[in-house]
Amino acid sequence: MPDNLSENQIRIFDTTLRDGEQAPGCSMTLSEKLRVAKALSELNVDIIEAGFPAASPGDFESVKAIADRNFGPVICGLARCNAADIERVHAAVKGADNHRIHVFVATSAIHREYKLKMAKDEIIKSAVGAIKIARELCDDVEFSPEDASRTELSYLAEVVSAAIEAGASTVNIPDTVGYTVPAEFNRLFCYLKEHVARINEITLSVHCHNDLGMAVANSLAAVGAGARQIECTINGIGERAGNCSLEEAVMAIKTRSEFFGVCTKIDTTRLYPTSRLVSNITGMHPPRNKAIVGENAFSHEAGIHQHGMLQHASTYEIMRPEDVGLSHSNLILGKHSGRHAFRDRAKELGFELDDFEINRAFQDFKKLADKKKDIYDGDIESIIMNASGSASGPWSLKSLEIQTHTDQPATATVTLVGEDGVDVSESAHGDGPVAAALQALERATGVDMILLNFELHSASSGEDAQGEVTVTVEINGQIFRGRGASVDIVEAGCRAGLEVMNRTLRRRARGETNADSTQSAHATI
Ligand code: KIV
Ligand code: ZN
Repeated sequence: MPDNLSENQIRIFDTTLRDGEQAPGCSMTLSEKLRVAKALSELNVDIIEAGFPAASPGDFESVKAIADRNFGPVICGLARCNAADIERVHAAVKGADNHRIHVFVATSAIHREYKLKMAKDEIIKSAVGAIKIARELCDDVEFSPEDASRTELSYLAEVVSAAIEAGASTVNIPDTVGYTVPAEFNRLFCYLKEHVARINEITLSVHCHNDLGMAVANSLAAVGAGARQIECTINGIGERAGNCSLEEAVMAIKTRSEFFGVCTKIDTTRLYPTSRLVSNITGMHPPRNKAIVGENAFSHEAGIHQHGMLQHASTYEIMRPEDVGLSHSNLILGKHSGRHAFRDRAKELGFELDDFEINRAFQDFKKLADKKKDIYDGDIESIIMNASGSASGPWSLKSLEIQTHTDQPATATVTLVGEDGVDVSESAHGDGPVAAALQALERATGVDMILLNFELHSASSGEDAQGEVTVTVEINGQIFRGRGASVDIVEAGCRAGLEVMNRTLRRRARGETNADSTQSAHATI
């Protein structure tokens, strides 16, 4: 056991910004990554894996920007086993007081034969060489034998031994393809504990994917056999079926602390706000019945359950909603609520806004309160996310008129106000109201885009609920995402499209062609 880690403390290594961000539709812009990194540090994660710096200049810049902010957690970057990747990670993370280089190479027979075309001893040589290069740059080096769960046990033990001898301070065991099951994975960790001589001198880590829906269970089974770092992501986002969900693993450890006999440093009251932040940014909302952070995770519908709950909450509740940062008093503000009440509620929901941001969001809140009687937490989050996303024109939506008729194309007329206060109106036809509105916007702003995806999510409940729309569009071969919210879903879509067009125009005005795209070219792992 490394000296600075108590026997029963689990390190939480968050890879939302690396493994999570690699998932289709989850890429984030630099400013979005910074917001997530700040939220992760408020959640008190131990390590943030901020990206894969060698993958693209954009990845490098975002890892560097996060490291340079020095939010508090160890900042880590991923590298393949070659000097160029490792040096790139070091250049990106060295701005953080505490930083880590994470190197990996695949070890299973399938990967050796078909992907790497390398023999067993060549792989060990490559891992050892890489760890040594990394150790010259940084004391904190993590090594991962990719596809460890499908690697022959005796060879895996050999690789892990060699990695420790070469200087790795953390050895991570990935179930890369989500293939293992809890009892088997527990045995694998016990085997390593028994067969790797100096294993107690390093932190043993676990990294699970969710292809068979067992990422959290497998991670906890590894903890049962001595793993002391869990690699996970907010909302379990990640490649294919995702990674181990941070909130589920952390709350299992907290709720069943007597069983596991371990703890984490996570401020669990930040779990729900952090989950909402990530889902708002990625547009990927957890299912309603998702454990811990799903909308229904703490609602009790069945009469018998409600009766029990009224007698004593513990009859049907093993965790309290407030423990995960979910407020009991969801309903709250209305049109008579003042700026203070709005600011306080925003703060409780995890948004620290400056005066400028509060003023802008408060104006939007007042407009919404005119249309909608009760304003729920989801509405407030939506207002704030939109206010921060659509910042500063050049165009704002003045009005939108839609005509639809069964069997006929829809017609939309948009009127935008420019920064100079001049209105522009354009009309267009389309297969549906959204297509017509986006086409009219294209004419008004001069920005052409291809709509790739349109996702609608309800921000709160009730007939007058706000619709939150996330659009993914292609402009000049690059992918961008925009968000908009309104009680009218076509208007929400229009606002989402306008947000992307505004960003494009602002970039063009600055003479940039590719900044702030959500697309990051990930190197093949
Ligand atoms: O799933 C995996 O094997 C990984 C490694 C790079 C740690 O993400
Ligand atoms: Zn992974």
